[in-house]
Amino acid sequence: MTSHGVADSIREKLDIVDVVQDYIPSLRRTGRNYKAVCPFHNEKTPSFTVSQDKQMFYCFGCNEGGDMFTFVMKIEGLTFVETLKKLSHKAGIPWAETEYHQLSAKEKERLDLKKVLTAAAEFYKKLLFSSNGEKVRLYLGGRKINKATVEHFGLGFAPGEPSLTAELERQKFSKELIVTAGLAGVRDNGSVTDYFRNRVMFPIRNSTGDVIAFGGRALDDGQQPKYLNSPETPLFSKRRTLYGIHEALPQIRKEGRILILEGYMDVIAAHQHGVTFAVAPLGTALSAEHAAFIKRYSKDTILMFDADEAGINASVRASDIFMEAGMYVKVADLGESLDPDEYLNEYGREAFDSKLAQAADPLEFRISALLRDRPDAMASQDKAKLIETLLDTVVKQSDEILKSEWVKTLATRFDVTQESVLRQLKKKSVYAPAPRRDAPGHGAGAPALPEVPAIELGFIHLLVKDPGLIACVKDLTEADFQNPVSKRIFSAVKDLAGEDPAKTIPRLVELLPEYAGIIMKLSVEEMGPDMNTTQNAAKAAETLRKLSLERKRKELKSRMGSLTQAEMAEYIALMGLKKGLKVKTDTE
Ligand code: UTP
Ligand code: MN
Repeated sequence: MTSHGVADSIREKLDIVDVVQDYIPSLRRTGRNYKAVCPFHNEKTPSFTVSQDKQMFYCFGCNEGGDMFTFVMKIEGLTFVETLKKLSHKAGIPWAETEYHQLSAKEKERLDLKKVLTAAAEFYKKLLFSSNGEKVRLYLGGRKINKATVEHFGLGFAPGEPSLTAELERQKFSKELIVTAGLAGVRDNGSVTDYFRNRVMFPIRNSTGDVIAFGGRALDDGQQPKYLNSPETPLFSKRRTLYGIHEALPQIRKEGRILILEGYMDVIAAHQHGVTFAVAPLGTALSAEHAAFIKRYSKDTILMFDADEAGINASVRASDIFMEAGMYVKVADLGESLDPDEYLNEYGREAFDSKLAQAADPLEFRISALLRDRPDAMASQDKAKLIETLLDTVVKQSDEILKSEWVKTLATRFDVTQESVLRQLKKKSVYAPAPRRDAPGHGAGAPALPEVPAIELGFIHLLVKDPGLIACVKDLTEADFQNPVSKRIFSAVKDLAGEDPAKTIPRLVELLPEYAGIIMKLSVEEMGPDMNTTQNAAKAAETLRKLSLERKRKELKSRMGSLTQAEMAEYIALMGLKKGLKVKTDTE
């Protein structure tokens, strides 16, 4: 059976309401839909909506949405196939590992890579606890890492000799796969050698917990580089990965915030001290990809980098990226030349927590950093330059309320008028329009809804609610729509006419993944209770057609001098139609 076959049988047996209720017992019926506080973002009043008719969910707060499969994938961090397996169990459908899915070559490679990486992690772990591993155990002990933490993070030891490559080949993994997984490199003479040698090994996991790469720390002084990461592989992209995400995810979900530290050791120390919502990038700057990834789990971010110049610059850059992604950022400062790992071991959890509680917003943080070595009295020009620099931070803030608070802060701090700060800010904003946070349709890269003309949006809304209505709008064509979004959705619904209407929405989402957000939003959004939809759809279609013809007429008129004969004939016909329409409206 294909995965689609399995998915269809699951859909027949299960109801999305029951599936969601397993995770959110507080889901309650309100009107035609069910509602609850959204599990994917922080909120007090419920905007998470489940439509039983459509078998879809959508959150009006964070724009997450999808069917029962996407829901389980998101809330549990599972892959599609893992979700199928889980839900087929719930549905009482036997799960046959081997025939469930014709794996594509790519999927097969990813699966094989995960297998070889898991085997490598096992090998490294075994070596850490072997007699060879004693010096490493001593090293970890010296760094105050206890046995439970070693187990929790699956730490290991790569000796180089005995060789991982040899062991993996003994386990029948191919040389090619071992190299593709980034576990071995090919020398000039063609021989294959272990990539990590004489290093403490940190398995890097994705959010689901699969090992996708490794980091290895040098054991000897002078051994370079101090940290070596796996090269980029089909499974591993540094720009998208955060160390500790799998271990941190439950707490991140619970607290709705995430703590970003600088390195492996910081994350490990944090977790060992009970600060379990901590992660770190992998020796790269935080990227927009990281922000997009984190945003799925939490909107509040605390950055805690070194207090040196490099750390300050990294904090400023990272907070810009997070603000631009529509997230809330704070920057914590330990105020010492210690990194979080050293600080926790020196002063403990409580002192660390109070530093977290004192985290400043990015503007405050930058003001203190910039004023650190400045004289109290400042020349006007220096003041202006400083404000100019700080406005770079303000312009990145996509929350308008916060932005206006920041304008006030700058005015007060530097004793200038708010108006002048605002005018200066406006100059910048022209070049850097801030994205709107949480505007409907904005999440998940969905195009903005407000751009769709109301009449088109209303019509698409009716169609998505009841795809069968497409039958009563025969002479309307794709060309009658102005907006590309409504155009695409209309023509996709038209193409799907005749298929099982119950499956139209999932099929639409499949066909137009870029508009999934809008489609799902509209499909669960309530319309008026007493809307006669057939009549409404027919009327709306008629209006759309009229508007479209009128646009065509105006367009032809504007080119009057250079019309072809056919175009002229069309224009005359449209003029006649216009008169006809006028007469009709006049007598109404
Ligand atoms: P640090 O040099 O601050 O390391 O690098 P650290 O975390 O304090 O490590 P210890 O305490 O000396 O063991 C911070 C992060 O930068 C990346 C790693 O991800 C590291 O955790 N890094 C550092 C590299 O990728 N390569 C390097 O050579 C050094
Ligand atoms: Mn350190």
